[in-house]
Amino acid sequence: MVEVRIRINGVDRELDIPPQVSLLDALREHLGLTGTKKGCDQGACGACTVLVDGERINSCLTLAVQYAGREITTIEGVDHPLQEAFVRNDGLQCGYCTPGQICSAVGMLAEHRAGAPSAVTEPPGAPGGELTGAEIRERMSGNICRCAAYNGIVDAIQEVAR
Ligand code: FES
Ligand code: FES
Repeated sequence: MVEVRIRINGVDRELDIPPQVSLLDALREHLGLTGTKKGCDQGACGACTVLVDGERINSCLTLAVQYAGREITTIEGVDHPLQEAFVRNDGLQCGYCTPGQICSAVGMLAEHRAGAPSAVTEPPGAPGGELTGAEIRERMSGNICRCAAYNGIVDAIQEVAR
């Protein structure tokens, strides 16, 4: 077992866990933070997205012990206009992907504000630019929605970006 202290949603939490426990399982199974979802457990769906020091990651692909001393934000700690925008724009159906979509969108908007280009930014490699529907779809392409609520998700993000 390994002792690790992680700051989660503004609170220091102590864990005594096997070193192979993923951050996702630590959140869900050891801390009771079940807002973060497990879809594929192999980095393909984005349902497990959380923020680490403000940057989005797939928590299923990392070990909890890597995050000693870091600041993790899960959906339980998010308070952002995106949440109401998703409701207003029908950006969800069953809601399973939604915590990951919201955390990812929070991180994505920060990346865009910081001038990070996406694969479809014109000219290629240019920073920032308008957050068009194509930009949002590319930048959110790591988050799958099995209900295909993509139009509402894009509209919600675009509304907040404006
Ligand atoms: S559960 Fe982590 S990417 Fe699917
Ligand atoms: S709302 Fe059902 S998977 Fe996205």
